[in-house]
Amino acid sequence: MRPNPLRLEGDRRLSRIAGPSSLVIFGVTGDLAFKKLIPAVYDLAAGGLLHPGFSVVGYGRREWDDEQFRALVLESIQSHAREPFNDDVFASLREGLRFVEGTFDNPDGFTRLAEVLRELDRTRGTAGNHAFYLSIPPSQFPVVTEGLAAAGLSQSREGGWRRVIIEKPFGQDENSAAELNATVERVFPADSVFRIDHYLGKETVQNILALRFANSMYEPIWNAHYVDHVQITMAEDIGVGSRAGYYDGIGAARDVIQNHLLQLLALTAMEEPVSLEASAVRAEKEKVLEAIAPLGHIPTSAARGQYLDGWQGGQHVKGYLQEDGIPADSATETYAALRLEVNNRRWQGAPFYLRTGKRLGRRVTEVAVVFNDAPSHLFPEVKQSQLGQNALVIRVQPDEGVTMRFASKVPGPAMQVRNVTMDFGYGHAFTETSPEAYERLILDVLRGDAPLFPRHREVELSWRILDPVMAEWETSGKPEGYQPGTWGPSSADQLLARDNRVWRRP
Ligand code: BG6
Repeated sequence: MRPNPLRLEGDRRLSRIAGPSSLVIFGVTGDLAFKKLIPAVYDLAAGGLLHPGFSVVGYGRREWDDEQFRALVLESIQSHAREPFNDDVFASLREGLRFVEGTFDNPDGFTRLAEVLRELDRTRGTAGNHAFYLSIPPSQFPVVTEGLAAAGLSQSREGGWRRVIIEKPFGQDENSAAELNATVERVFPADSVFRIDHYLGKETVQNILALRFANSMYEPIWNAHYVDHVQITMAEDIGVGSRAGYYDGIGAARDVIQNHLLQLLALTAMEEPVSLEASAVRAEKEKVLEAIAPLGHIPTSAARGQYLDGWQGGQHVKGYLQEDGIPADSATETYAALRLEVNNRRWQGAPFYLRTGKRLGRRVTEVAVVFNDAPSHLFPEVKQSQLGQNALVIRVQPDEGVTMRFASKVPGPAMQVRNVTMDFGYGHAFTETSPEAYERLILDVLRGDAPLFPRHREVELSWRILDPVMAEWETSGKPEGYQPGTWGPSSADQLLARDNRVWRRP
């Protein structure tokens, strides 16, 4: 008998295949579903990671039948999937595609949804296991979760599970996050709620755990005795684009620091968890977030900016205030930087600097751990500033990998030294390509595997760090303008200059 290619002995995917289930997407005609969620489902199917009966139900207002939904799914896959298009994979997926027409507040829509899910249980063997993806504004969460409850869809039945997936923003501050959480958890038990932070689905972000805890050489120096400071950068070269409605009034700090950057900080700074179980990993991240000292004087521990119109990459680009849908007097920041101190034995004395912005020099996300200066008495001709500092840079994207920077002798008769780098790149080291973040996260939801999903407490602690900054900014005028294509406002440079440090120029 020929071995089934999906069931090879020792196949590492085996333990990762999702059981029978379906995914219901609310907001299925939106951008996220089209560009990320549907392509991720296809890529999982193409990788043999989904059950053959896996089904996707789109729920929305359009007067569509299943065929119209299937056409949308096909277009989304053809334009955004990572894996090459395969007729057989699509044909099998297509069989399990259903569309339910309904508004969020109409009980009839939810009744029809319940019927369709029962039909899928019967015909596709989805076994009563259903995940509900709320790719909709948080203001709609209460009505949708209550609609699900009223139609009997929120409670696990006959051994089947029910899970709900929610996207940020998880509130606008600590209080609204708590309210939102209460709304969702009134209907779904806490362990059935999966909060997506798509950065945690990125391979390079998960590699922070492997780098730190699957090696022995970093641990002894991973503390303030050896680390001078840490810089976490998430820079984008794009502007706000068509997302004015979401972004204005939210801004860079709420959009990205509250979630992605504080999660990167937590993974970089946390202690080794006792296992990779969700509760163990989350507990260690929470301890770090809890140990972050409250920001005292905001003007000296935070900086903000707003991009002006100007030139970027040979093109003239609009300033934030000229973008479509942005009020001409908006004070929303498109750049934010924070200086944070983690008050525990490992990190006291080594600050963490976080920055993010739109319309910056280039798209790059990295965590740079910068080490103390070496004594330079043996190299009197070399200025310390030329030597720079040793650094370990986790390159989250693009050009995923890790760089180590250290000094080396320049060939020649003199004892000259210069900084050089040693690189690990995913593209060179592995033949496997990295899955998209949403593939990993959707698979984990279907498998009920939660370490990559922040629980409510983490969200709450992150807001607690940010709330005083936002309160100060709301009452202190406008952000400083910065030119597109640069590395942000001068106040961000001063933030580090006060500590005799400079931002990296990635
Ligand atoms: C999102 C933010 O969470 O992350 C966006 O809302 C940002 O403003 C995006 O553009 C960046 O994601 P990525 O994966 O391209 O770095």
